Amino acid sequence: MATAANRLLFLLCTTNLLVLLSTSAAGATTDLDIRVDLIHVDAHRNLTLLERLQRAIHRGSNRFMSLRQGSTKGINGTGMNQSNIQSPVHTGSGEFLMNLAIGTPPLPFLAIVDTGSDLIWTQCSPCTNCFTQSSPIFDPSNSSSFSKLPCSSPLCSALPSSTCTPDCAYLYTYGDSSTTQGILGSETFTFGSDNKTVSVDKIGFGCGEDNEGNGFKQAAGLVGLGRGPLSLISQVGSSLYKQFSYCLTSIDDADMKTSRLIFGSAAVPKNLNDSKVAVTTPMVVNDAHPSFYYLELKGISVGGKRLRIPRSVFRLNPDGTGGLIIDSGTTMTYLEAAAYRQMRKAFIKGIDLPVADSSAVGLDLCFTSPSTAKTVEVPALTFHFQGGHLDLPGNNYFILDDSTGLFCLAMMPSSGMSILGNIQQQNFHILYDLHKNMVTFTPAQCDQL
Ligand SMILES: *[C@@H]1O[C@H](CO)[C@@H](O)[C@H](O)[C@H]1NC(C)=O
Ligand SMILES: *[C@@H]1O[C@H](CO)[C@@H](O)[C@H](O)[C@H]1NC(C)=O
Ligand SMILES: *[C@@H]1O[C@H](CO)[C@@H](O)[C@H](O)[C@H]1NC(C)=O
Ligand SMILES: *[C@@H]1O[C@H](CO)[C@@H](O)[C@H](O)[C@H]1NC(C)=O
Ligand SMILES: *[C@@H]1O[C@H](CO)[C@@H](O)[C@H](O)[C@H]1NC(C)=O
Repeated sequence: MATAANRLLFLLCTTNLLVLLSTSAAGATTDLDIRVDLIHVDAHRNLTLLERLQRAIHRGSNRFMSLRQGSTKGINGTGMNQSNIQSPVHTGSGEFLMNLAIGTPPLPFLAIVDTGSDLIWTQCSPCTNCFTQSSPIFDPSNSSSFSKLPCSSPLCSALPSSTCTPDCAYLYTYGDSSTTQGILGSETFTFGSDNKTVSVDKIGFGCGEDNEGNGFKQAAGLVGLGRGPLSLISQVGSSLYKQFSYCLTSIDDADMKTSRLIFGSAAVPKNLNDSKVAVTTPMVVNDAHPSFYYLELKGISVGGKRLRIPRSVFRLNPDGTGGLIIDSGTTMTYLEAAAYRQMRKAFIKGIDLPVADSSAVGLDLCFTSPSTAKTVEVPALTFHFQGGHLDLPGNNYFILDDSTGLFCLAMMPSSGMSILGNIQQQNFHILYDLHKNMVTFTPAQCDQL
């Protein structure tokens, strides 16, 4: 589809950068099919596009630092210290929240959804140190389905840091130095909404009695969706259905459409096998970051023309640096600077608008859009993954800020690793198949899934 002449019509109808996602979930077809709504962290807040972008950039760069801190070697400039290496570090706060409930009777709470870490946890009373949460704090003594997991359990062994007290006491550290500490328990978790809920028992989770960190405060805990044994996806379903998918609605939508997260057989998009629309690429394992979903990016085309990026730029190095991860918790894509610079140059050449001072927005590349224009042509953008070429819709990489008239690239340069962020993933139904170790992108209207 991407040829040299191929240009996308980009509609400048993006009045507000607004992602409000919530309510309703239904239609599970088998026992372990779980559908939940994803709520954007900035939903229900009265923010302008500029404010939303700035908040997202701030969160994105914090998270980027967190992700990079987790690497073991060779990363420069993050203030990383060898002493960090002793305790494995995970990512932290994300961009999306989900509702779920814990225990019997079920106690609802809101959790951060994070593909960059594994542990599922919620604050537990009695607390030594809990932050304020909007729902009551879970009290294990109130639940008939709670039990402590013994130190001999495989999940206790899977913890990066634990001691036998004689309970399985854990410490889980995130990249921004936030932590949760408590004991590992087993509980029934209930997913979905009033009209259709699914309960899954015996899920190992962190009963967090000492929880410290600013990133957590929008929720009452966290649901890890990473690749390790402690994550929700590793704990639910049969090995044949170790899969989940999500579909993020456009961050431009003024009308607050719902994003989805789906587990089980329902996670598979209908057109999975249609090679005309589905792009499937293998997941790569990085032993230095076993929780992360690495993809193999081979190159990038702008306007149908392959950029001259050395293959080593996106390579995952033996020391654990480099590579590209797909992440639910980073808003914008970060590309290794050597590749980013090529792409930036190609956009400046291909877009017939003056380059603007983008320092107010905090983005790297913006153009001044003509006030009368309703559409701007932008060169097509293709990510060449191992096994498939992903063509991105124009509004997955350019964003218009009405208040300033700036027309900006929603990607940033990085060094040490690259991240495929949420804006670039929007309006794709993205399947993570942990059985086949594949990720599949299919174009979708996410609010209609
Ligand atoms: C939202 O913010 C705008 C601009 O700051 C303000 O004019 C408007 O009254 C606010 N609306 C609400 C519901 O707070
Ligand atoms: C580390 O970063 C600094 C600037 O932040 C730079 O001057 C230096 O060359 C970098 N070192 C390496 C080894 O990349
Ligand atoms: C690195 O860790 C050592 C020992 O814990 C500490 O003395 C030093 O201040 C740390 N350096 C930085 C830059 O954090
Ligand atoms: C725990 O149970 C008691 C007695 O049934 C009840 O009053 C209290 O609200 C419950 N607390 C929570 C957090 O569910
Ligand atoms: C895709 O193809 C595989 C192998 O032929 C088949 O098992 C699977 O059911 C197909 N999936 C869909 C969604 O069509």
